[in-house]
Amino acid sequence: MLLPAFGPKPIAALEPFTRDLCRQLLKETAGQATFDAAVEFAQHIPVRVIVQMLGFPQEDADIFRHFIRQVLEDVDQSPEERQELINQGEIDAYMDNQIAEHVANPRDDLTSFLVQAEIDGNKLAPEHIRGTMVLLMIAGIDTTWSAIGASLWHLARHPGDRRRLSAEPALMDTAVEEFLRAYAPVTMARLVAQDFDFHGQQLKEGDWLLLPFPSANRDPAAFTDPDTVQLDRDHNRHAAFGLGIHRCLGSNLARMELRVALQEWMAVYPEFELADPSAVTWSSGQVRGPRTLPLRIL
Ligand code: HEM
Repeated sequence: MLLPAFGPKPIAALEPFTRDLCRQLLKETAGQATFDAAVEFAQHIPVRVIVQMLGFPQEDADIFRHFIRQVLEDVDQSPEERQELINQGEIDAYMDNQIAEHVANPRDDLTSFLVQAEIDGNKLAPEHIRGTMVLLMIAGIDTTWSAIGASLWHLARHPGDRRRLSAEPALMDTAVEEFLRAYAPVTMARLVAQDFDFHGQQLKEGDWLLLPFPSANRDPAAFTDPDTVQLDRDHNRHAAFGLGIHRCLGSNLARMELRVALQEWMAVYPEFELADPSAVTWSSGQVRGPRTLPLRIL
């Protein structure tokens, strides 16, 4: 049901908004010799774009930024502490208000689409709409933030790649795929449905199994020289967006955001490096990306 809304055409329509947003964020960093590219740039992009798609006020984006961070990253807290931190009730109430407001004033956005959508002639229950919106936030924000941050982290440490990308902007599409391959942000999990022998490993019903897509992306049987980032890698069937029926719904959106973010960044800051490599911090949990990325503009 959601696939058409995330198809190439509707996503292309969001590109001007995304480009303006990146330019605005970069403008706000002007004049600073060093700043945190994860915090001041990358992290704002996906949340502001999904808020725009859903038709929520832009000034509410911060509510979700905090919420997602707590859901995905505070995984080492106790369940009680997490419950308190996450405050799901507040998010549910926010979504319910938005649903009611869109029922009263339908418009051309994803929330109105969900409110009007039907499956087998039945409208979606409000909790289904709410759950879908929360899923889009959880699936789309930290993941894309991580991909943008990891790509900038790579470019900061590899002047040859940085200069090449700047001199040959036509490489951007293959470069985006290569960053997704080499720094795939997402590892998913599955519950084993029945006892199973997997290449000699005995899996038992009820076991949890991690699917490390980042590791698949460095499989030497699938990629030549897998540990080297090649901006022009032309055969690149990576698994950063998963495989099979649960493959990522938002891959067109994520690719567009990553491409636009890097294009706009390189146009303003073609030369940069890590300000302090030891100050870079990474997320914990199943979504991997830099959370602190101090860069020095050269
Ligand atoms: C670089 C950014 C992203 C990466 C690396 C990524 C990666 C993934 C992966 C690995 C899966 C799981 C596949 C599986 O379980 O087999 C997934 C699922 C999903 N993604 Fe993404 N994703 C990204 C961005 C987005 C965005 C922007 C959205 C939407 C706003 C999104 C929405 C979803 C949804 C709804 C699912 C669940 C699909 C299902 O279970 O059928 N993702 N993504």
